[in-house]
Amino acid sequence: MNYSEKVMDHFTNPRNVGEIPDADGIGEVGNAKCGDIMKMYLKIDGTTITDVKFKTFGCGAAVATSSMATEMIKGKSIDDALNLTNKAVMEALDGLPPVKVHCSVLAEQAIKAALSDYYQRQGIDPEPIVGKVPECEECH
Ligand code: FES
Repeated sequence: MNYSEKVMDHFTNPRNVGEIPDADGIGEVGNAKCGDIMKMYLKIDGTTITDVKFKTFGCGAAVATSSMATEMIKGKSIDDALNLTNKAVMEALDGLPPVKVHCSVLAEQAIKAALSDYYQRQGIDPEPIVGKVPECEECH
């Protein structure tokens, strides 16, 4: 498989690997396609992501995309992190082979899950109340 130099660099020397014991938000996601797992830790001060670390039981492409994604959100705002797409991460890595595109989704989703965890801890964005929506009298 042909990987770009940047992918190889981030795979062999991944940035921000590890965990943050007192993280403000932790997100764990599994890849439905391959079963691999990613865990993302965020440290947040105000609206800024001051630190980010990740751990993965995933393939090389998952490691490389996560490494690049952490670099792209570190020091940035929460909004920037929410807007980070796997496409942008892949572009920053000079592309991925088509069969490996799904791996890059893991990092994007793990970041979003960690931010959602952060919001929930802050009570900013409580879990939507599924199934408890009042019934509309007009249609029942
Ligand atoms: Fe599972 Fe890449 S094959 S993350």
